[in-house]
Amino acid sequence: MIETSVKSVLFVCLGNICRSPTAEALFRQKSSAVELNISCDSAGTADWHIGSPPYQPMQEAALVRGINMSKLRARQISIHDFTNFDLIIAMDEKNRANLNTLCPEGVGKVRLLTEFAQENLGYDYVPDPYYTRDFNQTLDIIDQSLSGLIENLNSANTA
Ligand code: 4NP
Repeated sequence: MIETSVKSVLFVCLGNICRSPTAEALFRQKSSAVELNISCDSAGTADWHIGSPPYQPMQEAALVRGINMSKLRARQISIHDFTNFDLIIAMDEKNRANLNTLCPEGVGKVRLLTEFAQENLGYDYVPDPYYTRDFNQTLDIIDQSLSGLIENLNSANTA
């Protein structure tokens, strides 16, 4: 699914306080466990939470699974991210549409996280727990999708 060698990944959601920081922190953990040397970061399409730590209920649910994201701070996506990152991973279709509007030339770098899930999750996007309040569901979907993404990156980088 990923053909080129990828050295950096950016995860993107709306606020950068729930889904994308969780994806960033968990990607860091899972990729280092398999010695996949790929840098990562996260950003939001909106500017509402710039400088804020991840949303407290999201942090608490993640910490139960051993994911500590207390040091992360929200930032907004910038046009420079399209040159600085090899792969940009959106949490839902709205994020993807916003990214494609911001940088139409970068469309080939933008993918949806759930595309990489290897089992049927019942969702083809990552539900926003800021609204659903189901933080564990979001964690499950991110976790399963990241496993598929990392497998893909591993094969692409060793091909
Ligand atoms: P996220 O969730 O995009 O997963 O970070 C949201 C966080 C905050 C808001 C919306 C979504 N908000 O409206 O402030």
